[in-house]
Amino acid sequence: MCGIVGYSSTSNSIDLSEFVSMIKSLDYRGYDSWGFTFKDKDHLTTEKQVGKIPTPTQKGNATFVIGHTRWATHGKVTEDNTHPHISNSKNISLVHNGIIENYEELKNKLKKEGFTFYGETDTEIIPNLIEFHLRNSKDILEAFKKTLDELEGTFAITFLHNSSNKIFFARRDSPLVVGVDKDALIVSSDVTSFIDRTKNVIYLEDGDYGYINSEIKILNRNKEVHREISKIDWDVDKAKKGDFKHFMLKEISEQVDTVKQSLMQDSELITAVANRIKSSKVYIVACGSSYNAAKAAETEFLKNGLMPRIVHAHEFEQYEKFLSENSTVLAISQSGETLDLIKAVKTAKSRGTQIISIVNVQGSSLSRLSDQNIFMNVGPEICVLSTKSYTAQVAILMLIASALVIKPNQAKQEIEEIIRNIYYLTSESARKYTKELSQILRYSNHIFTIGRGRDYATAMEAALKIKEVSYIHAEGFAGGEIKHGPIAMIEHGTPCIVFVPNKENQDILSNAQELKTRGAFIIGISEKKHEVFDYWIKVVGPDKFSPILRIIPIQALSYYLAVMKGLDPDKPRNLAKSVTVK
Ligand code: M6R
Repeated sequence: MCGIVGYSSTSNSIDLSEFVSMIKSLDYRGYDSWGFTFKDKDHLTTEKQVGKIPTPTQKGNATFVIGHTRWATHGKVTEDNTHPHISNSKNISLVHNGIIENYEELKNKLKKEGFTFYGETDTEIIPNLIEFHLRNSKDILEAFKKTLDELEGTFAITFLHNSSNKIFFARRDSPLVVGVDKDALIVSSDVTSFIDRTKNVIYLEDGDYGYINSEIKILNRNKEVHREISKIDWDVDKAKKGDFKHFMLKEISEQVDTVKQSLMQDSELITAVANRIKSSKVYIVACGSSYNAAKAAETEFLKNGLMPRIVHAHEFEQYEKFLSENSTVLAISQSGETLDLIKAVKTAKSRGTQIISIVNVQGSSLSRLSDQNIFMNVGPEICVLSTKSYTAQVAILMLIASALVIKPNQAKQEIEEIIRNIYYLTSESARKYTKELSQILRYSNHIFTIGRGRDYATAMEAALKIKEVSYIHAEGFAGGEIKHGPIAMIEHGTPCIVFVPNKENQDILSNAQELKTRGAFIIGISEKKHEVFDYWIKVVGPDKFSPILRIIPIQALSYYLAVMKGLDPDKPRNLAKSVTVK
């Protein structure tokens, strides 16, 4: 995770406060601590701070500057462990995203050479290793290459050397792009840092390294390479909060449009994917909410005679031996940068397996690795929690699941019919009930969520939403499973959210009764009110689309729980939007 940015002016220098706002725009990638280094003549000046990036107050201008916002992996959240990291001679300042797996070995080697270390990070070895190789290299680039050859693991790196008017960079398995502005080149983890300046972007490939100054030089395997400039096709306004207090609420509200936008797909591609699922071994691979989205659509796949295997990307290694040219990986990811997923996809690709992705971010690593992309079309999702991307993923998967049974256009129409239900669920009047419920639940230590069939996945996603943003322990269960253990946790007043379909799986009502008998406070999410409920949230719509509809009140509930507890729903503790480490 972590966000990095390096700015090299080709004509005008940059105001440091502006540069700090560029780092701030990457803070969805990590917000434990932040820092920057700028070069003034032959001198490097560094500033670092623990905590979220404040509104910029820095004074002055810089021509070459690098910055970082951290999501801690190695080493606690302290100023010493904050990036940029400085070499022993203080000539090199470096920022890094990723993990250096052999850092201990390299650290010991450097210690034997007389290097000392002030922090606990894996990153700190990199500027020192470059410094070490500079002793026997003709220039900085050669020393950098020798360093890269010694590093094991994943990284995106940028650094400054006090004697050079260049910003050096490299990437391996961590995203890095270069923005091409009229008066600057900007190397960054993501386009968000420069989208308001330029829409021209170069997507660096794995193994690329080089530098920017007034121009860009890229090498790969010791050879100079050329990378095309692409155009970013989304607008900066989409990444702004507008009248909303938080991105989370904005993104929940947008679902009335985004579900519809996600249905704008090439029908032939959707049918082709469905056919592949029928005729070949298809593995749906994803993490977190994207995985839950696949599980939410599973019932529809099974009903229609399709049986894809749904696997967490981080568990995919066990399936790798079954991959061949006849298999397909359907990768699902909002960011397209989740490292566990990228690793799984790369392995599958090396076996000749076809890669099809449902992905939101165009130009992301996943979209570039895939043979075919189904873009989610929901615009940037800034809040760390997946909301609009989740319902879009479910909608697209529902299209695929139906494609062999009904015509894609008919499937689209069916989903479009629930748009008015989504409109109500995301409205302020519907949110009144979830807000009221959040007042009842705000002091709870545990919340259990229960569903059967397609609502089991909704229960899992609901628990994930509640816990990641409100820090209340929440766990999702299949209704049939509670009597096999979890029911032991029920005490007087334990909140249990129960998803009750209109017709399918009515056994869930018996499960709710079993819980109520043991003292549970039952919150029903359903179209009809049932006697067993202590609190009811009305959700109207066909059972088939329950995974899209019934999750929306829980997204809102999670949001209000966080706000009521004084937490920032857009940036929950310990989390980051793109999970680019193992
Ligand atoms: O970008 P991806 O969809 O690959 O991300 C996968 C998960 O990291 C993500 O869904 C995560 O679980 C969210 N925080 C859930 O709200």
